[in-house]
Amino acid sequence: MKSARELKNIRGKRVLVRVDFNVPLAKSSVHSSQFTVEDDTRINAAIPTIEFLLKKGAKVVLMSHFGRPGKIKNVKLKMKNDLEPIVDRLSELLKKKAGGVEKWDFTLIYERIKKMKAGGILMLPNLRLHPGEEKNSAAFARDLAGLGQIYVNEAFSVCHRKHASVVGVPKFLPSYAGLQLMKEVEVLSRVLHKPEKPLLALMGGGKIADKIALMRAMVKRANAVLVGGALATHFFKAMGYGVGDSRIEAEGVQLAKKLVGNHRHGGASKKIVLPRDVVVGRDDGEGARVVEVLAKSQEQRAKSSTPYALCSKPDAVLDIGPQTILEYAKHIKGARTLIWNGPMGLYEIKRYSHGTLALGRLFAARSRGRAFGVAGGGETIDALNQTGMLEYVDFVSTGGGAMLEFLGGRKLPGIEALHNTEKH
Ligand code: 3PG
Repeated sequence: MKSARELKNIRGKRVLVRVDFNVPLAKSSVHSSQFTVEDDTRINAAIPTIEFLLKKGAKVVLMSHFGRPGKIKNVKLKMKNDLEPIVDRLSELLKKKAGGVEKWDFTLIYERIKKMKAGGILMLPNLRLHPGEEKNSAAFARDLAGLGQIYVNEAFSVCHRKHASVVGVPKFLPSYAGLQLMKEVEVLSRVLHKPEKPLLALMGGGKIADKIALMRAMVKRANAVLVGGALATHFFKAMGYGVGDSRIEAEGVQLAKKLVGNHRHGGASKKIVLPRDVVVGRDDGEGARVVEVLAKSQEQRAKSSTPYALCSKPDAVLDIGPQTILEYAKHIKGARTLIWNGPMGLYEIKRYSHGTLALGRLFAARSRGRAFGVAGGGETIDALNQTGMLEYVDFVSTGGGAMLEFLGGRKLPGIEALHNTEKH
């Protein structure tokens, strides 16, 4: 993979940069019909690459997706160009006016780029408003490639998607990795292949199907995998516990069952550590109380067919309990490498935020020296931000799903595409 830093003599050249500016927006406090960027972490992460190219006099053409317009109707966004607030924020951060384009008209866009001065910057329309993007259409990729002379991928967080702008365009242009993408691959590869031991993974949140690859990889490579949040609830459900009104995905329970089954047969999943107590209650905080998870061994629980209820409706399992925090804290203190993805409970509600925030503080405090700490995923970063200690974490990945897949040992198509550009 060649780094964008290697690019020379690019004055006046058209450089197409794939970024991921799929960022949360909030209603503007000045104009209620307008939106502003709520969290610009991802925009900030791409700034060094953009500035590098601008300083070298390139014509920078940015492309990003925003949301999932085909699947979820985003009623909030009724603007002609849904990237407008993002272009505004980008201009503020660069202290330079970036241009925007409203629709996918390649002739018009090409004219705009031709007229641009060296060192100018333009953002293309939302990629997902074109039907060719998610279908990975070769025609769309060729049209996009026709707008540039060089391709740079600075969107690690979308490298797990086989989309036209991610895997199609590099087939047509000399391709390079952005500075942040290089860093992501370097740090995550080190953590995956040569971590300092003990290696500890802290995993929570929902969407177990997205996390199972990482969990399997960590069961093989890590010394322990500490589980919390909805992920732990799925394990409890798979082991026959009643979990009241907790949100459960049937597919997730099946996946958890397989890992529990491994455990029963003496498999490596003995490394999976589940909470010994949980906080249950209603999701508004009503009736919150600590419940001990029965003192049976995990193995006995896996064999047992008698359901034991941690809570019953309308209560749900919503945080890890104080004994679990203590036990997990001991593990964290002994580790030399720490990976964290997913909150330990419903941390948005104060009553259920203690597990996530306590471990978040400890995770950040152990980073920078005592252990090497890597965190990723929107909720994890948000929780670390709430502790005020995000800055102490050694590496914050811009990728949620992409980080999970990378650390799960999967090859990311977007990164593979950058390895095959010798022919240009
Ligand atoms: C993300 O937010 O994780 C990336 O932008 C990818 O978005 P997607 O899950 O809609 O493909």
